[in-house]
Amino acid sequence: MTDYKMEAAKTALQLIKPGQTIGVGAGSTIANLLSLIAADSKLASSLTFATSSFKTANLVTDHGFRLQGNAHVKHIDIYFDGCDQFDAQLNALKCGGGIHTSEKVMALLADEFILIGDAAKSVEKLDTTYPLVLEVLPTALNLVTKWLDKNIPTAKIVMRISTQKDGAVITEHGNYLLDVYFVEFMPLDKMNNIKMVTGVVEHSLFLGIAGKAIIAGPDGTKILTPR
Ligand code: 5RP
Repeated sequence: MTDYKMEAAKTALQLIKPGQTIGVGAGSTIANLLSLIAADSKLASSLTFATSSFKTANLVTDHGFRLQGNAHVKHIDIYFDGCDQFDAQLNALKCGGGIHTSEKVMALLADEFILIGDAAKSVEKLDTTYPLVLEVLPTALNLVTKWLDKNIPTAKIVMRISTQKDGAVITEHGNYLLDVYFVEFMPLDKMNNIKMVTGVVEHSLFLGIAGKAIIAGPDGTKILTPR
């Protein structure tokens, strides 16, 4: 059976030029891309990496690649990342990892943000399969929850709770995560404005940021641009 995430990673590899600084997000497609880079030692030794993900940082160092700390990255040529779902304009939802704030910083810092994954992630219009995730300042938890209850009363709000310890999942910035399950999505520009609520650090909708998406599926591998 064809490994579509590996096929997408092979096409992503073709876009990388020697000497570049490559940003990498989280997930299995990114792990595939790193393995492919590792197989080309001349290219690998010329690259510098930056990543939004703790797990991926471990992979990068395990491969022996050069890794720059997030606070010191001034420029990223290409930021590759997976997502949960993206639409025809390449607006993406990145919910599972709970690291969307760092991911968005890298995506916006990069000259180019390219989504990679299997074709199942591509939809005409984003749907409510995945929640919108909010990273929220602990002191603003009640304020943000009240705002959501008042302005989106049909949404179900679930705080991310750790399965490894008693208590909330704490982000790498010391904040909480709220999964907001919509009955129906609002217009995306309105949804994007949720970041204006005091105490919301960032949310998991990547609106108009990706320039390309590389997807592989039964119809082959395609490089999509926003429609
Ligand atoms: C999490 C993400 C990940 O990038 C995404 O889930 C990775 O997916 P895959 O393992 O299919 O490459 O956005 O929020």
